[in-house]
Amino acid sequence: MARVTVSVLKDKKKRKEKISMLTAYDYSLAGMVDEAGIDMILVGDSLGNVVLGYDNTLAVTMDDMIHHSKTVVRASKNAMVVGDMPFLSYHISKKEAVRNAGRFVQEAGCQAVKLEGGSERVDTVKAILDAQIPVMGHIGLTPQSVHQFGGFKVQGKDLETAKKLVEDARALDQAGVYCIVLECVPSELARRVTEEISVPTIGIGAGPYCDGQVLVINDMLGMFKGFIPKFVRKFANLEPLIMEALKSYKAEVEAGTFPAEEHCFTIKEEVLDRLY
Ligand code: KIV
Repeated sequence: MARVTVSVLKDKKKRKEKISMLTAYDYSLAGMVDEAGIDMILVGDSLGNVVLGYDNTLAVTMDDMIHHSKTVVRASKNAMVVGDMPFLSYHISKKEAVRNAGRFVQEAGCQAVKLEGGSERVDTVKAILDAQIPVMGHIGLTPQSVHQFGGFKVQGKDLETAKKLVEDARALDQAGVYCIVLECVPSELARRVTEEISVPTIGIGAGPYCDGQVLVINDMLGMFKGFIPKFVRKFANLEPLIMEALKSYKAEVEAGTFPAEEHCFTIKEEVLDRLY
């Protein structure tokens, strides 16, 4: 099976088939996400929160992202792998944005990049598209703007911000993005945007009417002990299982019951006899 492409995703929207996306950052989980048939793997800058232990995504660097993106690409065969452009990697100039987007493709082997922002990012999006790199938009609650928003808050609840969201979606659609993440916006507003634009919308905290959904993998597997947003469903609760396994390991090591015979290698008596 070949990797999911931009046209596969556009056809899915036309046929009203839902699109699945999950984040992944490492070889083991990315391999499982791919094997499960998820359409897209986002190497999100949420790496900063769930892997690197920062309070937000602002400290994540291009080198962090390339390191993890390489791993995810190596682990996957079928999903489209999307590299998330971190803070300051596309804000300074179009030239730097193209260079950094190019690193995701050339060094890491990603098939697309994602960047945050609406109308104000149109020129940057066009410059990256000009380098033949597919771009995913991201509007609504854009975590790299946390200080500007004054916290992680639902966006588009009043007329002014709802209008801005629709305008941003239209602008990105016209600029040529291949899909748009809508994060933390009211469901009915996400429905309007989804009906209005030509490319798929991928929701996270944006209700059921988007063309697809994305979640942070550590949240949906119940592996993250930090703050879990209202829109997350834990499809598994692995944290207690992992804790139980870790405690059993410690107890067995301390009791001397691990390793048992089946975990050990043997040596012939005669070799031992001649050792010294
Ligand atoms: O970094 C990330 O995981 C994201 C998703 C929440 C869309 O941007």
